[in-house]
Amino acid sequence: MKRRRTAIVAGNWKMNFDHLEATLFVQKLAWMLKDVHFDFKKCEVAIMPSFTSLRSVQVLIESENIPIKYGAQTVSVTSQGAFTGDVSADMLAALGCSYVIVGHSERRKYHPENDANLVDQVRAVLAAGMKPVLCVGESLSERREGIELEFAVGQVNEVARDLSSEEASQMLVAYEPLWAIGTGMTATSTSAQEACKAIREYFDNTYGGETAEKIKVLYGGSVNSSNAAQLLSDCADMDGFLVGGASLDVEEFASIVRITQKLAGSFR
Ligand code: 13P
Repeated sequence: MKRRRTAIVAGNWKMNFDHLEATLFVQKLAWMLKDVHFDFKKCEVAIMPSFTSLRSVQVLIESENIPIKYGAQTVSVTSQGAFTGDVSADMLAALGCSYVIVGHSERRKYHPENDANLVDQVRAVLAAGMKPVLCVGESLSERREGIELEFAVGQVNEVARDLSSEEASQMLVAYEPLWAIGTGMTATSTSAQEACKAIREYFDNTYGGETAEKIKVLYGGSVNSSNAAQLLSDCADMDGFLVGGASLDVEEFASIVRITQKLAGSFR
């Protein structure tokens, strides 16, 4: 069967790169992908820079018609007002953002982002016409208990259960087991596929097959150019990657993107 959803590789730059480094990276990536006649219809490419780089990235991408998308790493739940330091969804949409990461484990750890807050973030992102990339995944202790699937699906449920099917179908979910983030320990194909499948089944059970077929489920956690091909070809329910560390190296990121494009149209 052919993969039905367009693949996507998104680079989560976390708190790296100022606006000069960000624009230099985008120029290099665009040039490298153009050089290999990269087919963006088969694989979407996105980067998530810091807030401070978004405007510079937007100006470059729009002025040069570069088919790379971009987004933010978090968003405020409120639209305006006395919320010092916050950035609203409308502000991000006004900068041409396509995506916003919601509930990354680092945000959950270092900031008070609970489930109710994440639901509001998802709603704010959708209302502003962007797509949320909801991050879920178990820690080592849940994995040791053998409850990793229930845990990850439970996190999806906490955020998605009150959405309409129209809203839910706009979401992307990134399965990012905490023990795999920045550790060099990647999930095996078997466990990554189990989790991606369980997440898709959740949408099937809650919203029906049509919505479940639209949801893009990504994997994140020590993805690099050496493990991307194996993961993607083994995991029928995986639609791409959310890449951290390896997205900071343009050659490495371009390799992951090319591997994904090559496998995107493949049969499974
Ligand atoms: P690493 O690819 O560095 O493990 O990070 C994954 C991640 O957190 C992406 O959001």
